[in-house]
Amino acid sequence: MDDLTIRHGFTSGDCTKIAALWAQLGWGEDGAEGKKRVERALKASAWMAIAEVAGEFTGYARALSDGVVVTYLAEVAVIPAYRRRGVGGALIRSCLDAFPHTSVYADASPDAIGPNTRHGLLPRPSHMTACARGPR
Ligand SMILES: CC(C)(COP(=O)(O)OP(=O)(O)OC[C@H]1O[C@@H](n2cnc3c(N)ncnc32)[C@H](O)[C@@H]1OP(=O)(O)O)[C@@H](O)C(=O)NCCC(=O)NCCS
Repeated sequence: MDDLTIRHGFTSGDCTKIAALWAQLGWGEDGAEGKKRVERALKASAWMAIAEVAGEFTGYARALSDGVVVTYLAEVAVIPAYRRRGVGGALIRSCLDAFPHTSVYADASPDAIGPNTRHGLLPRPSHMTACARGPR
């Protein structure tokens, strides 16, 4: 997409939009409390990126990393109206470019398997299985 840009760093307005997206995805609540949670999560992340199309927020991604050995692409999310146009893929690529010297892991929802695989984050079922516990 010609008018897609990726930027790093976030504003209070970005947190409001990400909180609304989290609420839509069932990842958190909207409103002031949700926004505070997003802000805390982004501040504690080693890397984050916002995707904009013609200056409009369309999605974001964030990663946790030690910067040496391992990086976890914690989330990539695109607002529904902009999906399937390469925005998610661009965010994934931007993360992979930022950590070329570490392994990168991600949990992939069904929607994310295509873009992850296309950009080199490959399912490895015969090698490793993601094991997880939800929040308590
Ligand atoms: C996963 C997610 C981030 C993908 O974002 P996206 O912007 O749709 O990703 P892309 O556009 O790069 O790729 C999605 C599909 O669109 C296709 N596509 C990309 N550009 C396209 C274009 N110009 N025309 C048609 N199709 C296109 C890709 O080939 C891909 O298809 P595939 O999945 O069949 O391989 C998005 O679906 C989302 O936000 N889902 C909810 C949150 C989530 O589950 N996140 C992942 C776990 S944290």
